[in-house]
Amino acid sequence: MNHQQWTLLLEDRVLPAAVIDLDAFDRNVERIRKLTLASGKRLRIASKSIRVPFLMKRALDLGGGAFQGLLTYSVRESVFLYQQGFRDLVIAYPTLQKADLVAALPILKTDTAALTFMVDSEAHLDFLSQFHTQEGLDHPLSVSIDLDVSYRPLGIHIGVQRSPIRTLSEFERLLEAIRKRTSLSLVGVMGYEAQIAGLADTNPFAPLLNPAKKLIKRLSVRDVAQKRENVAALLKKKGITITFFNGGGTGSLSSTLREDAITEATAGSGFLQSHLFDYYATNQNEAAEFVALRVSRAPDTHVLTCHGGGIIGSGEIGNDKSMIPVLPLGISLLSTEGCGEVQTPLRKKNNTILKPGQPVLFRPAKTGEPLERFREVHLFSDQKWLKSVPTYRGMNEEFQ
Ligand SMILES: Cc1ncc(COP(=O)(O)O)c(C=O)c1O
Repeated sequence: MNHQQWTLLLEDRVLPAAVIDLDAFDRNVERIRKLTLASGKRLRIASKSIRVPFLMKRALDLGGGAFQGLLTYSVRESVFLYQQGFRDLVIAYPTLQKADLVAALPILKTDTAALTFMVDSEAHLDFLSQFHTQEGLDHPLSVSIDLDVSYRPLGIHIGVQRSPIRTLSEFERLLEAIRKRTSLSLVGVMGYEAQIAGLADTNPFAPLLNPAKKLIKRLSVRDVAQKRENVAALLKKKGITITFFNGGGTGSLSSTLREDAITEATAGSGFLQSHLFDYYATNQNEAAEFVALRVSRAPDTHVLTCHGGGIIGSGEIGNDKSMIPVLPLGISLLSTEGCGEVQTPLRKKNNTILKPGQPVLFRPAKTGEPLERFREVHLFSDQKWLKSVPTYRGMNEEFQ
């Protein structure tokens, strides 16, 4: 849609607002579904990158047999999603907080297998086991080992710092510690290759680094595959069957889904495609998520200022973490102000038509985080407003 069409569609809306192009979202779902189907694997949806139950449900429905379950980011969020009807919830990050388990207790008593807890140390195992014993639960708690698959040439760590389970012997030790506990049952392994999935290799904000990133990715793809293969072989040798071996993210789907050891990949950001995900040579998804601000003043001949702004993506600090204005064409942020806290000035080219009162569409750097700022998202399809659906926040929830 062009800027004139958006101007009409957003005329009576309260801005700032989160806007979803549902047709683009559906096309992204279809693209990811095809990629998954072609690999014969499954796809798990990363809830943190969406945070709108309606959209997660839609992706799962449209994904059919290719999509299965959610990779969630907190226990309390998983309890909430269970209440909303979602099942097969793998909680990607471990907890050592008793209140989390207490919140999950009703599910653990009746449908234990619906939740899988991530573990990477004996401390996690002890914590879960103790709770299991205290509560006298009938069925073992499902756990998944978080395998670190960072790339470590000459001891330099390239990847995220999460799990300490790096070598096969460390994995085996934890595996045996789980097997010793009747309160726990190993159902999966997750090895997330952030140095591939989270490394933009065609990033226009730091172009000089792109060749080095491409090289790291190429070397790392082989290394990650070998690590996961070794773990799968160990499990096989011991006669242990797991229900999933999870890896990857939007930025690595094409390489993750190729691996024999993997049974499923994860994706979330690719459905909404924030601008950081444009900078991956392998990712063809379309922008489906926008933040609309309204121009409220015109301080200079070629400068217009919007009300609102300042939605910055997390991670290593840099200009690429800012929202970028995309419609109308021919506008840019001022380097002296960027996206402000409540005011965002924009410079426009001579031939760009933009007047006070009109909306400006921005694309956020990341997909899920901006939606914490809004109670609802407005869905547009076929150049019309379809409906507005609540975010977690709009359902009076907030998960960190
Ligand atoms: C464990 C894990 N898996 C997968 C992903 C990928 O999610 P996305 O597809 O939204 O990039 C992430 C993102 O940080 C993650 O932490």
